Amino acid sequence: MLELCDVHVGYGRTTVVHGVDLAVPAGGVTAVMGHNGAGKTTLLRCAVGLLRPTRGSVRLDGEDVTRLPPHARVRRGLAYVPQGQQAFGTLTARENLQLVAALRRDGARRAAEALDLFPALAAVLGRRAGLLSGGQRQQLAIARALITGPRVLILDEPTEGIQPSVVAEIEAAILELAAGGEMGVLLVEQHVRFAVAAADTYAVLASGRLTQSGDGGAGAADRVRTAMAI
Ligand SMILES: Nc1ncnc2c1ncn2[C@@H]1O[C@H](COP(=O)(O)OP(=O)(O)OP(=O)(O)O)[C@@H](O)[C@H]1O
Ligand SMILES: [Mg+2]
Repeated sequence: MLELCDVHVGYGRTTVVHGVDLAVPAGGVTAVMGHNGAGKTTLLRCAVGLLRPTRGSVRLDGEDVTRLPPHARVRRGLAYVPQGQQAFGTLTARENLQLVAALRRDGARRAAEALDLFPALAAVLGRRAGLLSGGQRQQLAIARALITGPRVLILDEPTEGIQPSVVAEIEAAILELAAGGEMGVLLVEQHVRFAVAAADTYAVLASGRLTQSGDGGAGAADRVRTAMAI
């Protein structure tokens, strides 16, 4: 379980997120939505430890990790897939996975499991990551994160700028991971209909404040879309 408690965080003297509370229980999907610049990525960076909150705290399975660096949080079960389909472009897809798998005793097994989730990736393992499509690179980034065996997986706009057929594959993978029942997923997503339907709970961020939250499910999507005026 990942918990953000009254988190205030920003850049230099500028506060971008003003007092956000959020919980990501094990086995649940928590979706965070909001317009461009609302502070979604900033909030995730704080959860992961790339930004230190000026007020509030971050807890992981009950432990206060607010002052721990990112690598210590990863060791405790947090995995983060940043916005923008990042990969080591000059390495092959296989090498991108091996880089992480080599650090773990169960790395090879977990890499195979991650590839089961993204069959399309298995066909392009020998290709340089920089030459993959955006969607393939996004799948690679998620697969790499999964090799660390996370208890909480943080995804920042995993379907942004990706062609619809691959969006469907990524959405299916998120649902499959969530159905596993052990991993918590914190999903930042602009596709409100999917995010709310997939979520156990959702929250809407506007100008760094939570303006709406509730239980997810397909029925909630229209309400959220209306509230966000999209
Ligand atoms: N490195 C930075 N330095 C200073 N300000 C930043 C930095 N990164 C983001 N900001 C500012 O913080 C605010 C929130 O940005 P953030 O990236 O968290 O929004 P977002 O909700 O993730 O938007 P998007 O949907 O476009 O990804 C914006 O006003 C942005 O200009
Ligand atoms: Mg963002």
